[in-house]
Amino acid sequence: MACQRAPLSLQMLLGVPKQVLVTGASGRTGFLTFTKLRELEKEFYVRGLVRSQKGAKKLETTGASLGDSEKIKEQNAKMRAMGLPADDDEPEVFVGDIMDRDSIQEAFDDLDALVILTSGVPKLRKREIVKTVLSKLIGRQRMPKFYYDQMPEEVDWLGCKCQIDLAKEKGIDHVVLVSSMGVSPQKNTPDNTLNKIGGGNILVWKAKAEDYLKESGLTYTIIHPGGLTNKPGGERELVLGTDDSLLDNYEQLGATRTIPREDVANLVIEVLRHKELVANKSFDVVTKDVGAGAPTKDWESLFKTLP
Ligand SMILES: NC(=O)c1ccc[n+]([C@@H]2O[C@H](COP(=O)([O-])OP(=O)(O)OC[C@H]3O[C@@H](n4cnc5c(N)ncnc54)[C@H](OP(=O)(O)O)[C@@H]3O)[C@@H](O)[C@H]2O)c1
Repeated sequence: MACQRAPLSLQMLLGVPKQVLVTGASGRTGFLTFTKLRELEKEFYVRGLVRSQKGAKKLETTGASLGDSEKIKEQNAKMRAMGLPADDDEPEVFVGDIMDRDSIQEAFDDLDALVILTSGVPKLRKREIVKTVLSKLIGRQRMPKFYYDQMPEEVDWLGCKCQIDLAKEKGIDHVVLVSSMGVSPQKNTPDNTLNKIGGGNILVWKAKAEDYLKESGLTYTIIHPGGLTNKPGGERELVLGTDDSLLDNYEQLGATRTIPREDVANLVIEVLRHKELVANKSFDVVTKDVGAGAPTKDWESLFKTLP
């Protein structure tokens, strides 16, 4: 049985951990975020939403639990009816599809914050890789053809909308949406490479979800990372910007166009910790190279630079 949570200000005074749901928790940034939040158990109770049993197994490697089976819950109920003590093990891992409200709504109960890390995932068939490599060998440039299992219109718009609607319905205090750089009207054009991938117009649908969140009345923070890498986090200086300005001036700022996924996960945690500084803000983020600048540690000062 889910418990009723105290108002957030009271919780902070009492040092009660924030209850956070990470969706897309089996994804590359999602898993890093979920794992790091789990390690901060004094500050956060974290739940992860995944869409498959394979994803659930991945989260279970961190020690997270799917909760008691229906059979154990029934036995516990019988014991309680007899006046004997029996507590159901609360699930930390939820399996559902963000396109199917009923399959995910339980994960949204009694939350302080929601971190949306779901996204349409472009895929490449093996023969496409072979064709592209062969073309390169004979000196021809060829753009490989990607496809989506679920189109960005479904995942990045309708699935995201479904999560925002549930956040509103369930009174979630803070929604953090990890979107992408390139969503500003001047960059989000049909010929943008990200929009052309798999004919998915991914930036168009991400921008639509962002607008919906901004208009929802919920307290939000929208993060637009540059190109994601799998390099280690915590070693670089983060550089923030707005409205895709970084895409034009990252070099002048001594930065790159990219950011490690682990740094995005660290940033999400700091955004959850500094809600008052990032409430209703939308910003872009990349990093400098290792050694060019000092690794970001003073998050408060960084967030205070945001307009
Ligand atoms: N790639 C880049 O360079 C780049 C640049 C800027 C921003 N971004 C954005 O940054 C975010 C994180 O990227 P990432 O590469 O770390 O993510 P990712 O590994 O592609 O993970 C996406 C997650 O979404 C889940 N998902 C997709 N459809 C779903 C559905 N219908 N129901 C439930 N879950 C669903 C996937 O589940 P499964 O695990 O089951 O597949 C996966 O866990 C994304 O929004 C991405 O678009 C990416």
